[in-house]
Amino acid sequence: MTTEEMQKNLEKVFAERFGGEGNVYASAGRINLIGEHTDYNGGFVFPGAIDKVIMAVVRPNGMEKVRVFSVDIDQYVEFGLREEDAPKESWARYIFGICREIQKRGGDVKGFDAVFAGNVPLGAGLSSSAALESCFAFALNDLFNGNSIDKFELAKIGQSTEHNYCGVNCGIMDQFASVFGRKGNLMRLDCRSMEYEYFPFNPDGYRLVLVDSRVKHELADSPYNKRRESCERVAKRLGIETLRDATMEDLEKIKGDITAEDFFRAKFVIEEKDRVLAVCDALNAGDYETVGKKMYETHNGLSKDYEVSCEELDFLNDVAKEMGVTGSRIMGGGFGGCTINLLPDSLHDSFVKEVCARFNEKYGHEPQIYDVVISDGARLVKEAPKA
Ligand code: GLA
Repeated sequence: MTTEEMQKNLEKVFAERFGGEGNVYASAGRINLIGEHTDYNGGFVFPGAIDKVIMAVVRPNGMEKVRVFSVDIDQYVEFGLREEDAPKESWARYIFGICREIQKRGGDVKGFDAVFAGNVPLGAGLSSSAALESCFAFALNDLFNGNSIDKFELAKIGQSTEHNYCGVNCGIMDQFASVFGRKGNLMRLDCRSMEYEYFPFNPDGYRLVLVDSRVKHELADSPYNKRRESCERVAKRLGIETLRDATMEDLEKIKGDITAEDFFRAKFVIEEKDRVLAVCDALNAGDYETVGKKMYETHNGLSKDYEVSCEELDFLNDVAKEMGVTGSRIMGGGFGGCTINLLPDSLHDSFVKEVCARFNEKYGHEPQIYDVVISDGARLVKEAPKA
Protein backbone atom coordinates (compact mmCIF):
# COMPACT_ATOMS: atom_id res chain seq x y z
CA MET A 1 0.00 0.00 0.00
CA THR A 2 1.40 3.42 -0.86
CA THR A 3 1.62 6.07 1.84
CA GLU A 4 -1.14 8.09 0.08
CA GLU A 5 -3.49 5.10 0.04
CA MET A 6 -2.72 4.43 3.67
CA GLN A 7 -3.57 8.02 4.60
CA LYS A 8 -6.91 7.85 2.78
CA ASN A 9 -7.78 4.62 4.49
CA LEU A 10 -6.79 5.92 7.93
CA GLU A 11 -8.95 9.02 7.52
CA LYS A 12 -11.85 6.83 6.54
CA VAL A 13 -11.39 4.47 9.49
CA PHE A 14 -11.05 7.42 11.88
CA ALA A 15 -14.30 8.94 10.61
CA GLU A 16 -16.14 5.62 10.97
CA ARG A 17 -14.84 4.91 14.46
CA PHE A 18 -14.73 8.34 16.09
CA GLY A 19 -16.56 10.61 13.63
CA GLY A 20 -15.07 13.62 11.82
CA GLU A 21 -11.40 14.32 11.29
CA GLY A 22 -8.13 14.54 13.15
CA ASN A 23 -4.65 15.75 12.33
CA VAL A 24 -2.55 13.32 10.33
CA TYR A 25 1.03 12.68 11.50
CA ALA A 26 3.76 10.40 10.19
CA SER A 27 7.23 9.31 11.08
CA ALA A 28 9.70 7.16 9.24
CA GLY A 29 11.66 3.95 9.50
CA ARG A 30 15.40 4.25 8.98
CA ILE A 31 18.45 2.78 7.34
CA ASN A 32 21.96 3.07 8.68
CA LEU A 33 24.84 3.23 6.22
CA ILE A 34 27.44 2.36 8.82
CA GLY A 35 28.03 2.60 12.61
CA GLU A 36 26.22 -0.34 14.17
CA HIS A 37 26.00 -0.90 17.94
CA THR A 38 28.04 2.26 18.36
CA ASP A 39 25.25 4.54 19.59
CA TYR A 40 25.08 3.18 23.14
CA ASN A 41 28.88 3.27 23.21
CA GLY A 42 29.06 7.01 22.62
CA GLY A 43 30.28 6.50 19.04
CA PHE A 44 29.09 7.65 15.62
CA VAL A 45 26.17 6.49 13.50
CA PHE A 46 25.19 7.33 9.94
CA PRO A 47 21.45 6.83 9.48
CA GLY A 48 18.76 8.31 7.28
CA ALA A 49 14.95 8.16 7.34
CA ILE A 50 13.24 6.21 4.56
CA ASP A 51 10.02 6.48 2.63
CA LYS A 52 8.28 3.87 4.78
CA VAL A 53 6.27 5.32 7.64
CA ILE A 54 3.96 4.84 10.55
CA MET A 55 1.04 7.21 10.13
CA ALA A 56 -1.64 8.20 12.62
CA VAL A 57 -4.78 10.30 12.70
CA VAL A 58 -5.01 11.85 16.16
CA ARG A 59 -7.51 14.15 17.89
CA PRO A 60 -7.94 15.21 21.53
CA ASN A 61 -11.14 13.70 22.97
CA GLY A 62 -11.66 15.79 26.12
CA MET A 63 -11.53 12.67 28.28
CA GLU A 64 -8.96 11.21 30.65
CA LYS A 65 -8.29 8.26 28.41
CA VAL A 66 -6.64 7.28 25.16
CA ARG A 67 -8.65 5.30 22.62
CA VAL A 68 -6.56 3.86 19.85
CA PHE A 69 -7.12 1.48 16.98
CA SER A 70 -4.37 -0.35 15.14
CA VAL A 71 -5.57 -0.83 11.57
CA ASP A 72 -2.86 -3.36 10.71
CA ILE A 73 -3.53 -5.60 13.70
CA ASP A 74 -7.25 -4.83 13.71
CA GLN A 75 -7.26 -4.24 17.44
CA TYR A 76 -8.75 -1.53 19.64
CA VAL A 77 -7.30 -0.58 23.02
CA GLU A 78 -8.21 1.99 25.67
CA PHE A 79 -5.98 3.13 28.49
CA GLY A 80 -5.74 5.87 31.10
CA LEU A 81 -2.79 8.16 31.57
CA ARG A 82 -1.53 7.08 34.99
CA GLU A 83 1.36 4.66 35.46
CA GLU A 84 -0.93 1.90 36.67
CA ASP A 85 -3.00 2.14 33.48
CA ALA A 86 -0.33 0.49 31.29
CA PRO A 87 -1.95 -1.71 28.62
CA LYS A 88 -0.90 -5.31 28.05
CA GLU A 89 -0.78 -5.21 24.25
CA SER A 90 2.81 -4.66 23.20
CA TRP A 91 1.99 -2.19 20.41
CA ALA A 92 -0.14 -0.10 22.78
CA ARG A 93 2.68 0.00 25.34
CA TYR A 94 4.74 2.05 22.87
CA ILE A 95 2.02 4.70 22.75
CA PHE A 96 1.38 4.56 26.49
CA GLY A 97 5.14 4.89 27.08
CA ILE A 98 5.30 8.02 24.94
CA CYS A 99 2.44 9.60 26.90
CA ARG A 100 4.10 8.76 30.22
CA GLU A 101 7.57 9.90 29.20
CA ILE A 102 6.18 13.27 28.08
CA GLN A 103 4.35 13.62 31.40
CA LYS A 104 7.44 12.64 33.38
CA ARG A 105 9.29 15.51 31.72
CA GLY A 106 6.60 17.95 32.79
CA GLY A 107 4.85 17.97 29.41
CA ASP A 108 1.13 17.84 28.95
CA VAL A 109 -0.85 14.88 27.63
CA LYS A 110 -4.62 14.66 27.69
CA GLY A 111 -6.96 12.04 26.36
CA PHE A 112 -7.05 11.49 22.61
CA ASP A 113 -8.48 9.25 19.91
CA ALA A 114 -6.20 7.76 17.29
CA VAL A 115 -6.04 5.27 14.47
CA PHE A 116 -2.73 4.26 12.97
CA ALA A 117 -1.11 1.98 10.41
CA GLY A 118 2.27 1.56 8.79
CA ASN A 119 4.24 0.31 5.82
CA VAL A 120 7.56 -0.05 7.65
CA PRO A 121 8.18 -3.80 7.48
CA LEU A 122 8.12 -5.32 10.96
CA GLY A 123 11.15 -7.20 12.26
CA ALA A 124 13.25 -6.17 9.27
CA GLY A 125 15.65 -3.98 11.25
CA LEU A 126 14.09 -0.81 9.83
CA SER A 127 12.91 0.50 13.20
CA SER A 128 9.17 0.33 12.89
CA SER A 129 9.01 0.79 16.67
CA ALA A 130 11.00 4.04 16.55
CA ALA A 131 8.68 5.23 13.77
CA LEU A 132 5.66 4.50 15.95
CA GLU A 133 7.20 6.25 18.95
CA SER A 134 8.30 9.29 16.98
CA CYS A 135 4.96 9.62 15.24
CA PHE A 136 3.10 9.80 18.55
CA ALA A 137 5.75 11.88 20.33
CA PHE A 138 5.56 14.41 17.49
CA ALA A 139 1.74 14.38 17.49
CA LEU A 140 1.38 14.85 21.26
CA ASN A 141 3.98 17.62 21.23
CA ASP A 142 1.98 19.39 18.54
CA LEU A 143 -1.48 18.81 20.01
CA PHE A 144 -0.84 19.39 23.73
CA ASN A 145 2.48 21.21 24.09
CA GLY A 146 2.52 23.82 21.34
CA ASN A 147 5.64 22.09 19.95
CA SER A 148 7.64 23.31 22.93
CA ILE A 149 9.51 20.00 23.37
CA ASP A 150 12.63 20.10 21.22
CA LYS A 151 13.45 17.43 18.67
CA PHE A 152 16.23 15.79 20.68
CA GLU A 153 13.90 15.46 23.62
CA LEU A 154 11.30 13.84 21.35
CA ALA A 155 13.90 11.27 20.28
CA LYS A 156 14.83 10.66 23.91
CA ILE A 157 11.17 10.24 24.83
CA GLY A 158 11.06 7.40 22.27
CA GLN A 159 14.26 5.88 23.59
CA SER A 160 13.04 6.02 27.21
CA THR A 161 9.84 4.35 26.11
CA GLU A 162 11.90 1.41 24.83
CA HIS A 163 13.87 1.28 28.08
CA ASN A 164 11.01 1.68 30.52
CA TYR A 165 8.03 0.09 28.78
CA CYS A 166 9.38 -2.31 26.14
CA GLY A 167 12.46 -3.90 27.73
CA VAL A 168 15.03 -2.86 25.11
CA ASN A 169 18.03 -0.85 26.32
CA CYS A 170 18.55 0.69 22.90
CA GLY A 171 20.71 3.64 21.92
CA ILE A 172 19.43 6.85 20.37
CA MET A 173 20.05 6.15 16.67
CA ASP A 174 16.63 4.93 15.56
CA GLN A 175 14.58 7.61 17.26
CA PHE A 176 17.06 10.29 16.21
CA ALA A 177 16.81 9.20 12.57
CA SER A 178 13.04 8.97 12.70
CA VAL A 179 12.65 12.46 14.19
CA PHE A 180 15.44 14.29 12.35
CA GLY A 181 15.31 12.57 8.94
CA ARG A 182 15.52 14.84 5.92
CA LYS A 183 14.77 13.96 2.31
CA GLY A 184 17.90 13.12 0.32
CA ASN A 185 20.18 13.33 3.37
CA LEU A 186 21.96 10.91 5.62
CA MET A 187 23.02 12.19 9.02
CA ARG A 188 26.18 11.65 10.94
CA LEU A 189 25.46 11.76 14.64
CA ASP A 190 28.08 11.84 17.37
CA CYS A 191 26.23 9.95 20.09
CA ARG A 192 28.43 11.41 22.82
CA SER A 193 28.17 15.14 22.07
CA MET A 194 24.90 14.71 20.13
CA GLU A 195 26.31 16.92 17.39
CA TYR A 196 25.04 16.00 13.98
CA GLU A 197 25.51 16.90 10.40
CA TYR A 198 23.33 16.34 7.33
CA PHE A 199 25.08 14.63 4.43
CA PRO A 200 23.38 14.94 1.02
CA PHE A 201 23.37 11.42 -0.35
CA ASN A 202 23.13 11.23 -4.13
CA PRO A 203 25.71 8.62 -5.01
CA ASP A 204 26.49 9.08 -8.65
CA GLY A 205 25.87 5.81 -10.49
CA TYR A 206 25.28 3.84 -7.28
CA ARG A 207 22.29 3.03 -5.15
CA LEU A 208 21.27 1.38 -1.90
CA VAL A 209 19.15 -1.75 -1.85
CA LEU A 210 17.86 -3.64 1.16
CA VAL A 211 17.50 -7.40 1.06
CA ASP A 212 15.17 -8.53 3.82
CA SER A 213 15.78 -12.15 4.77
CA ARG A 214 12.36 -12.20 6.44
CA VAL A 215 13.81 -14.23 9.25
CA LYS A 216 13.80 -13.11 12.84
CA HIS A 217 15.70 -15.16 15.36
CA GLU A 218 14.20 -14.28 18.70
CA LEU A 219 16.94 -15.42 20.99
CA ALA A 220 16.24 -15.97 24.65
CA ASP A 221 17.61 -13.61 27.30
CA SER A 222 17.50 -10.45 25.21
CA PRO A 223 20.80 -10.70 23.31
CA TYR A 224 20.72 -7.01 22.43
CA ASN A 225 20.82 -6.00 26.10
CA LYS A 226 23.55 -8.58 26.69
CA ARG A 227 25.75 -6.99 24.02
CA ARG A 228 25.31 -3.66 25.68
CA GLU A 229 26.22 -5.12 29.07
CA SER A 230 29.45 -6.56 27.64
CA CYS A 231 30.45 -3.14 26.34
CA GLU A 232 29.64 -1.47 29.62
CA ARG A 233 31.64 -4.05 31.56
CA VAL A 234 34.72 -3.43 29.43
CA ALA A 235 34.34 0.36 29.68
CA LYS A 236 34.07 0.07 33.44
CA ARG A 237 37.17 -2.12 33.58
CA LEU A 238 39.01 0.53 31.56
CA GLY A 239 37.78 3.25 33.89
CA ILE A 240 36.06 5.20 31.10
CA GLU A 241 32.48 6.17 30.56
CA THR A 242 31.98 4.52 27.17
CA LEU A 243 34.05 2.60 24.63
CA ARG A 244 34.18 5.76 22.56
CA ASP A 245 37.29 6.64 24.54
CA ALA A 246 38.99 3.26 24.16
CA THR A 247 41.70 2.23 21.71
CA MET A 248 42.78 -1.25 20.66
CA GLU A 249 45.98 -0.74 22.69
CA ASP A 250 43.88 -0.09 25.82
CA LEU A 251 41.87 -3.18 25.14
CA GLU A 252 44.93 -5.38 24.56
CA LYS A 253 46.27 -4.28 27.94
CA ILE A 254 43.29 -5.68 29.84
CA LYS A 255 42.81 -8.73 27.64
CA GLY A 256 43.83 -11.13 30.42
CA ASP A 257 41.29 -9.64 32.85
CA ILE A 258 38.13 -9.90 30.74
CA THR A 259 36.33 -12.77 29.05
CA ALA A 260 37.15 -13.57 25.44
CA GLU A 261 33.55 -12.78 24.59
CA ASP A 262 33.73 -9.28 26.10
CA PHE A 263 37.07 -8.73 24.37
CA PHE A 264 35.63 -9.41 20.92
CA ARG A 265 32.50 -7.35 21.56
CA ALA A 266 34.63 -4.35 22.53
CA LYS A 267 37.04 -4.92 19.64
CA PHE A 268 34.19 -4.64 17.18
CA VAL A 269 32.92 -1.40 18.72
CA ILE A 270 36.37 0.23 18.73
CA GLU A 271 36.96 -0.70 15.09
CA GLU A 272 33.48 0.31 14.00
CA LYS A 273 33.92 3.79 15.43
CA ASP A 274 36.82 4.44 13.07
CA ARG A 275 35.01 2.94 10.12
CA VAL A 276 32.22 5.52 10.35
CA LEU A 277 34.73 8.35 10.12
CA ALA A 278 36.53 6.65 7.23
CA VAL A 279 33.21 6.30 5.40
CA CYS A 280 32.45 10.00 5.87
CA ASP A 281 35.79 10.93 4.32
CA ALA A 282 35.26 8.47 1.48
CA LEU A 283 31.78 9.82 0.79
CA ASN A 284 33.12 13.37 0.68
CA ALA A 285 35.68 12.20 -1.86
CA GLY A 286 33.06 10.29 -3.91
CA ASP A 287 35.03 7.11 -3.22
CA TYR A 288 32.28 4.50 -3.09
CA GLU A 289 34.69 1.59 -3.36
CA THR A 290 36.09 2.48 0.07
CA VAL A 291 32.59 2.96 1.48
CA GLY A 292 31.75 -0.52 0.24
CA LYS A 293 34.92 -2.07 1.61
CA LYS A 294 34.13 -0.68 5.06
CA MET A 295 30.60 -2.08 4.87
CA TYR A 296 32.01 -5.58 4.28
CA GLU A 297 34.37 -5.10 7.22
CA THR A 298 31.42 -4.14 9.40
CA HIS A 299 29.54 -7.25 8.34
CA ASN A 300 32.50 -9.39 9.18
CA GLY A 301 32.86 -7.79 12.62
CA LEU A 302 29.13 -8.06 13.36
CA SER A 303 29.18 -11.69 12.33
CA LYS A 304 32.44 -12.93 13.88
CA ASP A 305 33.17 -10.61 16.82
CA TYR A 306 29.83 -9.15 17.83
CA GLU A 307 27.91 -12.29 16.87
CA VAL A 308 24.63 -10.67 15.89
CA SER A 309 24.39 -12.18 12.42
CA CYS A 310 22.82 -15.47 11.41
CA GLU A 311 23.26 -18.03 8.67
CA GLU A 312 20.77 -16.41 6.32
CA LEU A 313 22.37 -12.96 6.59
CA ASP A 314 25.86 -14.35 6.11
CA PHE A 315 24.58 -16.12 3.01
CA LEU A 316 23.14 -12.86 1.62
CA ASN A 317 26.46 -11.19 2.30
CA ASP A 318 28.38 -13.96 0.50
CA VAL A 319 26.13 -13.76 -2.56
CA ALA A 320 26.58 -9.98 -2.68
CA LYS A 321 30.34 -10.33 -2.53
CA GLU A 322 30.41 -12.99 -5.22
CA MET A 323 28.34 -10.81 -7.52
CA GLY A 324 30.59 -7.78 -7.16
CA VAL A 325 28.24 -5.69 -5.02
CA THR A 326 30.32 -2.71 -3.81
CA GLY A 327 29.35 -2.98 -0.14
CA SER A 328 27.01 -5.20 1.84
CA ARG A 329 26.34 -5.78 5.50
CA ILE A 330 23.78 -6.73 8.07
CA MET A 331 21.86 -3.64 9.19
CA GLY A 332 20.34 -2.70 12.55
CA GLY A 333 20.37 -4.65 15.80
CA GLY A 334 20.84 -8.03 14.10
CA PHE A 335 19.60 -11.60 14.63
CA GLY A 336 17.66 -11.45 11.36
CA GLY A 337 16.22 -8.70 9.22
CA CYS A 338 17.99 -7.01 6.32
CA THR A 339 21.29 -6.53 4.64
CA ILE A 340 22.02 -3.10 3.20
CA ASN A 341 23.77 -3.17 -0.16
CA LEU A 342 25.60 -0.43 -2.05
CA LEU A 343 25.91 -1.28 -5.72
CA PRO A 344 26.35 0.25 -9.15
CA ASP A 345 23.05 0.95 -10.96
CA SER A 346 24.13 -1.43 -13.71
CA LEU A 347 24.27 -4.37 -11.30
CA HIS A 348 20.90 -3.75 -9.65
CA ASP A 349 18.60 -5.94 -11.73
CA SER A 350 20.90 -8.95 -12.04
CA PHE A 351 21.77 -8.84 -8.33
CA VAL A 352 18.15 -8.70 -7.26
CA LYS A 353 17.24 -11.57 -9.56
CA GLU A 354 20.07 -13.80 -8.50
CA VAL A 355 19.96 -13.11 -4.77
CA CYS A 356 16.22 -13.88 -4.71
CA ALA A 357 16.63 -17.10 -6.66
CA ARG A 358 19.58 -18.38 -4.66
CA PHE A 359 18.06 -17.50 -1.30
CA ASN A 360 14.80 -19.15 -2.27
CA GLU A 361 16.60 -22.29 -3.38
CA LYS A 362 18.40 -22.54 -0.05
CA TYR A 363 15.79 -21.36 2.46
CA GLY A 364 12.50 -21.99 0.70
CA HIS A 365 11.28 -18.40 0.55
CA GLU A 366 12.30 -15.29 -1.37
CA PRO A 367 13.76 -12.31 0.45
CA GLN A 368 11.95 -9.00 0.10
CA ILE A 369 13.76 -6.28 -1.82
CA TYR A 370 13.45 -2.57 -0.96
CA ASP A 371 15.06 0.21 -2.96
CA VAL A 372 16.10 2.85 -0.45
CA VAL A 373 14.58 6.31 -0.85
CA ILE A 374 15.95 8.72 1.76
CA SER A 375 13.02 10.76 3.03
CA ASP A 376 11.69 13.08 5.72
CA GLY A 377 11.24 12.08 9.36
CA ALA A 378 8.48 13.01 11.83
CA ARG A 379 5.96 15.51 10.48
CA LEU A 380 2.45 16.89 10.43
CA VAL A 381 1.00 15.58 7.17
CA LYS A 382 -2.36 17.30 7.31
CA GLU A 383 -4.14 19.56 9.72
CA ALA A 384 -7.83 18.88 10.34
CA PRO A 385 -10.09 21.86 9.64
CA LYS A 386 -10.76 23.78 12.88
CA ALA A 387 -14.12 22.77 14.39
C1 GLA B 1 18.85 -1.18 17.27
C2 GLA B 1 18.82 -0.13 18.36
C3 GLA B 1 19.76 1.05 18.05
C4 GLA B 1 21.15 0.56 17.65
C5 GLA B 1 21.06 -0.56 16.63
C6 GLA B 1 22.39 -1.18 16.32
O1 GLA B 1 18.29 -0.67 16.10
O2 GLA B 1 17.53 0.36 18.57
O3 GLA B 1 19.82 1.93 19.13
O4 GLA B 1 21.88 0.17 18.77
O5 GLA B 1 20.18 -1.60 17.02
O6 GLA B 1 23.23 -0.27 15.71
